[in-house]
Formats: sequence, C-alpha cells, structure tokens
Amino acid sequence: MKIDGREYRALWQEGQTIKFIDQRKLPYFFEIFTASTVDDVAYAIKEMVVRGAPAIGAAAAYGMALGQKNPETSADLLRSTRPTAHDLFYAIDYMTQAIDYRQNVFDAAATYAETIITHCKKIGENGEKVIKDSMRILTHCNAGALATIDYGTALAPLRIAHQKQKKIFVYADETRPRLQGLLTAWELYHEGIPHVLITDNAAGYFMRKKDIDLVIVGADRIAKNGDFANKIGTYEKAVVAKENHIPFYVAAPVSTFDPKLRDGSQIIIEERGRQEITEICGKTIMPEWVSVKNPAFDVTPKKYVTGFITEEGICKK
Ligand code: MRU
Repeated sequence: MKIDGREYRALWQEGQTIKFIDQRKLPYFFEIFTASTVDDVAYAIKEMVVRGAPAIGAAAAYGMALGQKNPETSADLLRSTRPTAHDLFYAIDYMTQAIDYRQNVFDAAATYAETIITHCKKIGENGEKVIKDSMRILTHCNAGALATIDYGTALAPLRIAHQKQKKIFVYADETRPRLQGLLTAWELYHEGIPHVLITDNAAGYFMRKKDIDLVIVGADRIAKNGDFANKIGTYEKAVVAKENHIPFYVAAPVSTFDPKLRDGSQIIIEERGRQEITEICGKTIMPEWVSVKNPAFDVTPKKYVTGFITEEGICKK
C-alpha cells in the first residue's frame, strides 16, 4: 500500500526483529511497533497492534521464527492470543512443519508472508470481475492491506477495479467498538478511492434506499458448510442485503477455510474487554456501573452468501 508516496506493508522483517504499523494509533499517528521476541509478537496480536486474519497469521509465523528455540512453548503462547481467526492456527502449523523439516525459520516465515500477498492479489483479480462500473459497494470492518500485509481480501477487488479505472464508490461501516472502518477509510483515502464512512446502524438505511449495489466482506474462519465468522455486525449486514436482493460476497484466502469444522456453530467467538466499549481513544464515555458484553465476531449462515472469492476463483456452491 502506498502511504504519502512510500510503499508500506502492515508488517515486515528487519534483521532479527519484526516491524508492525501500529494499527491502534492509526489514523492519527503513524508509528512502528518493534517485536524482538515471541512474547512481543503475542502482545502485538492480543492488543491488536496487528489485526485481521491473514496478517495475524503472518505475525504468528514470524513469532515462531523469533521463538524457534522453544517451538512448542512459542506455538502454545501464540495460539492463546486470539481464538477465532483460522489463519493464526494455520500459520503456526505451517511453521511447526518447517521447524520439523529443519528449514531456515525466517525464510519459511518470509515465504508464508509472500504467499499471503500473492493470494490477496489473486483474490483482487478474481473479485474485480463481480464489480461493474459505477457500483456502490458496502464493506464491514477492515479487510484491507493492513489486515493482510498488502492488497487486502475484501478491499483487493476494489483496489484492482479502481486501478482498471472502473468508477466505484465505497460505503465503509464504522465497525464499533474498535472502529476498523476508520482504517478502511484511511486506506481508501490513500488509494484515492471515493468513499464515505457510515455508522453501523446506517447500513440498512442505505441498502433499502437502493444506494448499495454490492457487499464484500472478509472472513476470520469459514466452516466446511460455508457458514463463516467475521467481525461483529457482519451477520446483520448479510441478512439485510438478502432482504434487499443485494449480492453479498465473502473474500478470503483458502487458509481461512477450516476443514475441521462441520458448520458455524463450532466456531469459537472471541469475547474482548470492557474498555473497548466504555472508552473511545482512551477517553471514558460510559459510567462505571454500565455492564457490557463484547463479542468480537459473529457467524453468518451460508445461505446469505452469494459467493466466496478466493485466490483459486469464485465459489458459489
Ligand atoms: O478483530 P479484527 O480487527 O482482527 O477482525 C478483523 C476482521 O474481522 C476481518 O474482517 C477479517 O479478519 C478479514 S481480514 C482480511
């Protein structure tokens, strides 16, 4: 992704350290977080310095490289950070195999990261075909370069459509409580793609008004039957899209598909802390007596999905 004329990735290796764009600070501050140990990487994943399923997979791969002296302890630590995104577990298994085969671990992690980028570009090329000129597209959360190292999943088709000079307009859901929609707006702003940020509650209003032609979202884990988990609020968007006859696509690499799960009821949903709801940008906005619940993801049944856009093509069945 290009930021003020410079190419960036969400994370990269520098010597024996891993650098992350600190996503907690964006879009106000552009700061780099440095991880020198597997504990630093685990912290970065848990605290969402780095976030988005493919990006936390790549972070975990590098975490395994940093913690190569104690591979089992490192794997357990990284697995305990966030439960929902399948890519995290997929990457740890990939690295465990690389260690078993005595490959150079940093080379293996770099290959893993490069493969994600290649897959996301391919997702963009495949997904671009469902985008017609002048379409108005809704997306939820941030499934862009920040969430995948580069290109994105849901945002990759939009990037490619824009590069091919198709006129598109994006509606980005704000995505309470962590406001990942603001990260989407930041990426679109730097890419020069016309967009607006809307509150989560406004998406149905725009869909019913026929202001939205297409919905594309990412995914954190996709079960064998096609039910999938994504950022909380995705389910509602899918239901309202179907009610309004708007095509609803899920863009994700094959590493997000979990062949071990029969259906969405088996997906573990992460519950996150109270402060994510009671505070915004470090400022308390709710009294202490307020009780909250903060599921970070929800599951959307397959019947709401028009198609899955992957690096291998678009799967409609
Ligand atoms: O909690 P987050 O910000 O890590 O959640 C991210 C999402 O839900 C994304 O939509 C998903 O990981 C796909 S990212 C390409």
